[in-house]
Amino acid sequence: MKAFDVYKLWPIEPVKAEGCSVWDKDGVKYLDMYGGHAVISVGHAHPVYNKVVKDQLDKISFYSNSVINSLQTELALKLGKVSGYENYSLFLSNSGAEANENALKLASFHTGKSKILAFKGAFHGRSSGAVAVTDIPKIVSPFNSYHKVEFVPVNDIEAVKSCLNSGEYAAVIIEGIQGVAGIYEPEAGFLRELSELTKSCGVVLILDEVQSGYGRTGKFFAHQHAGIKPDIITTAKGMGNGFPIGGTLISPLFVPVQGMLGTTFGGNHLACAAATAVLDIIDSGNLIAKAAEAGDYLMDKLAKIQERYGKEVILDIRGRGLMIGIDMSDKYIPVRDSLLFTEKIFTGGAKSNIIRLLPPLNITLEECDVFLESFVRCVEKIKNEQK
Ligand SMILES: Cc1ncc(COP(=O)(O)O)c(C=O)c1O
Repeated sequence: MKAFDVYKLWPIEPVKAEGCSVWDKDGVKYLDMYGGHAVISVGHAHPVYNKVVKDQLDKISFYSNSVINSLQTELALKLGKVSGYENYSLFLSNSGAEANENALKLASFHTGKSKILAFKGAFHGRSSGAVAVTDIPKIVSPFNSYHKVEFVPVNDIEAVKSCLNSGEYAAVIIEGIQGVAGIYEPEAGFLRELSELTKSCGVVLILDEVQSGYGRTGKFFAHQHAGIKPDIITTAKGMGNGFPIGGTLISPLFVPVQGMLGTTFGGNHLACAAATAVLDIIDSGNLIAKAAEAGDYLMDKLAKIQERYGKEVILDIRGRGLMIGIDMSDKYIPVRDSLLFTEKIFTGGAKSNIIRLLPPLNITLEECDVFLESFVRCVEKIKNEQK
């Protein structure tokens, strides 16, 4: 048997990692400005994280959700405290798509309705409902396309109003910051109006914080910059620092009914231990403030680089904290490959010309400088080739 060939692979095989660095099988060291797609929150092979996971493995790694698991209670208490959502409940699953799927189901159970409002450019995962509310037609199969979903532009409150006025909608789902689309943050005013509007229409507001959550933007959740409190929040990626876990945070308005949601693997002992260790490290290491500081540092220096080279090189720089998008002009699209193959730096992509920075939250300013110097070298190299 061989792997089903659905991924475009870089010809690199990481075999070791520590902090913000990754080594390939030939011993070559890479700087990780990608965090394995925003997953590595507290750094690779963090000693506290590794010890907690190893210790848990020696005790018990899994039992089913039909018995008491106090690690789930401990995780929920810590997550409530660190995120500021102490009166919400937590449903645990294994991925971002599942966290969203459960959020959509809950909204539908709660309202008795089935239509969902989503946004242009949205990405919410690949399971049935999650992919139906994702605005990438090529990944929506005919089987998924029968969900009742409408897409409107982000920041267009009038378009939202005209949909919600129909009274047909169970929920509105929106990313804290659109990640896969290329780092687009909804305006704070729009989020506040959206929150008011959904409340007044009796529609559930779901904030997908799968990529933008867990301190990455300088607050625990990106929507907290706008001061809103959604009905449901979803999380995954940074939650387990690589151990698969997803969470659906549910407001006290929702009444649980036994059997309404369920999972075999979600909330298992190992996943809970990993996720609790992540929260402890974020809290004790002050990593949310550090992410804000490193993010501001990168944005400031990138803005200076943009000033120096102009729009001929960098079209736009966006983002918050350690969730940054750099739009390269067409001629400078090769900068991303050059960063990887020449400078040995992993970054994320989006569309053909966007470089996404999603490094671990504990990246140092020295590591940011390494990236910035390499970035300038790549730009210079292409500039010289074009002379
Ligand atoms: C905002 C957002 N939601 C959901 C998902 C899906 O998460 P998963 O791949 O863990 O199912 C992603 C993945 O990139 C994401 O960025």
